[in-house]
Amino acid sequence: MIALADPRAENLLIQDEIEAACRRVIEGGRYILGPEVEAFEAEFASYLGTKHGIGVGNGTDAIEVALRALGIGPGDEVITVSHTAVATATAIRRTGASPVFVDIDPQTYTMDPDAAAAAVTARTKALLPVHLYGQAADLAPLLETAEAHGLPLVEDCAQAHGAHYDGRRVGSFGALSCFSFYPTKNLGAIGDGGLVATADPELAERCRLLREYGWKERYVSSSDGWNSRLDEMQAAILRVKLPHLDSRILKRRELASHYLDRLVDTGVETPTTGPDRDHVYHLFVVQPPERDRVMEELQKAGVGCGIHYPVPIHLQPAFAGRSPVRLPETEQAAKDILTLPMHPVLGTDEIIQTCDLLGSVLSNRTPPVA
Ligand SMILES: Cc1ncc(COP(=O)(O)O)c(C=O)c1O
Repeated sequence: MIALADPRAENLLIQDEIEAACRRVIEGGRYILGPEVEAFEAEFASYLGTKHGIGVGNGTDAIEVALRALGIGPGDEVITVSHTAVATATAIRRTGASPVFVDIDPQTYTMDPDAAAAAVTARTKALLPVHLYGQAADLAPLLETAEAHGLPLVEDCAQAHGAHYDGRRVGSFGALSCFSFYPTKNLGAIGDGGLVATADPELAERCRLLREYGWKERYVSSSDGWNSRLDEMQAAILRVKLPHLDSRILKRRELASHYLDRLVDTGVETPTTGPDRDHVYHLFVVQPPERDRVMEELQKAGVGCGIHYPVPIHLQPAFAGRSPVRLPETEQAAKDILTLPMHPVLGTDEIIQTCDLLGSVLSNRTPPVA
């Protein structure tokens, strides 16, 4: 069996460090919003090249907190993509605002900046691009649109810890940026976790109030809020893992280059990295001919592969509006994409096996219908 992702194997590489951190928390006796969360928030903000980090319960909450901190709510529109984890749109909905879906650039699978610019209305309150699969959306034109309309840009960085755009790390561009530490992410906890990052002290303060009942002072709610806290145990584990993030990204890149070498001339479309960006290969997404048959054969042979994501959000029952939206590039991508195994503990031999199998499935190709 070749795993699509293997957080267990990754964690076992540094098991002693993780166990020591967990012991420190247990013995320290502070389990919620204590020194580990505070230290991790500062360390991660500094890694990103921004000022404030606010640890929250998960990545979905990070987006909701960020949008609420901007005062976004019922009647407002937030421009985002349909080709993303449903969480992006769920979080927008949770504020009472409506997600307005725009199409993607088919080369990078990220927000098409022209489509975003065309979708701005008087009700638009934010742009929310997603740095999907491990590479940044094309931030320069998106920031231009945001600035031209006086709108904040909020980054969904859940899949792109450590990725750069124009030499800077994602998470340092938007008014606010949102991270998930779901266990399979490039920086993953051993449970749920999330974080909002911002350079703005006032927005940071609003996020802090939102994540804990609006408490400025304990037991006194001065504003709206609920409970979405990163816990001390997860923060301690993330502090152990953060110093390893860059070397794990390098490992992912090395593995990606093996894939790229072996998939040349196979008819499989491999990932493209857009200009001014690098790729941290959270997911390795290709487009093989006859995607469904290929996926079935690979899975039958024990290769963990999948589709991220099979049904665009604007076509999912919970989100399909009364007047159907057409997003041709998004809809096409959902039909063609296939995610191959990618994680820092993946062996080169496993990549060779996967590519050889892919080659043999494709050479057995059913003839096109005349
Ligand atoms: C692009 C994107 N946004 C948001 C999220 C939500 O993160 P979480 O699962 O931590 O709520 C995820 C993770 O699944 C994601 O991939």
